[in-house]
Amino acid sequence: MKKVIVSLMLTLGVSTGAQAAGDATAGQAKAALCGACHGANGVSAAPNFPNLAAQGERYLVKQMNDIKSGERTVVEMTGMLNALSEQDFEDIAAYYASKPAATGAADPKLVQLGESIYRGGNSEKGIPACNACHSPTGKGNAQAGFPALSGQKSAYTAKQLRAFREGERTNDGDTRIMRDIAEKLSNKEVDALASFIEGLR
Ligand code: HEC
Ligand code: HEC
Repeated sequence: MKKVIVSLMLTLGVSTGAQAAGDATAGQAKAALCGACHGANGVSAAPNFPNLAAQGERYLVKQMNDIKSGERTVVEMTGMLNALSEQDFEDIAAYYASKPAATGAADPKLVQLGESIYRGGNSEKGIPACNACHSPTGKGNAQAGFPALSGQKSAYTAKQLRAFREGERTNDGDTRIMRDIAEKLSNKEVDALASFIEGLR
């Protein structure tokens, strides 16, 4: 019986031992070059470089693969991931995931609009609440691959929402989750959401 269960788990891709995840210590060394832009602990110093600290491993590994393959264009990182393997990505992801999240502040003038869409969506425009996938505190859902957003640089977040909206970022997959949502957001709503998210914790 035990044998049957184990083989069933293997068929379903369920790991029987400890999680086959990355090694954060190895990842720290492998991420040394990344710190120039993303900050030594994954909290960046520039508004256009995203924080990676406390981001979910599954999401990080997916983005690194997408950037490496060109499915997501990041000109600043051109060629930088070519020599890295899947194991390297997992180690680097484990390192950043283990670091404490950045905290920021929202613009008081934008909070109300940003919060109302984040928590309640806009049924008239068909915009779902961001809450549902990115969680009320913005820490995302690491297992599902829904990214953490809280504390992220508002300039970066606003750029991503516009990129999804304009079809410049298409690595949200065939279900087009983020493109469909972003297409319904005005510039004012994008800026309000991005500001609210920076202050969210
Ligand atoms: C020269 C600056 C620079 C360096 C060095 C750099 N990055 Fe980036 N990275 C960026 C920028 C800029 C973006 C965001 C681009 C955009 O606006 O879409 C980014 C995005 C990312 C993202 C996606 C973040 C998200 O929230 O979706 C990951 C993951 C990432 N980088 C990992 C790395 C790793 C790992 C390294 C080191 C091997 C690295 N980066 C080195 C500039 C850099
Ligand atoms: C049904 C689930 C779902 C909902 C609802 C949702 N998102 Fe997302 N979001 C995702 C997924 C999945 C991704 C990752 C796409 C990928 O793999 O590249 C994502 C990515 C993002 C990113 C890019 C993060 C980064 O680090 O680059 C931002 C910003 C974002 N969402 C903001 C929002 C906002 C704002 C709302 C509400 C208006 C929202 N999302 C609603 C699932 C969702």
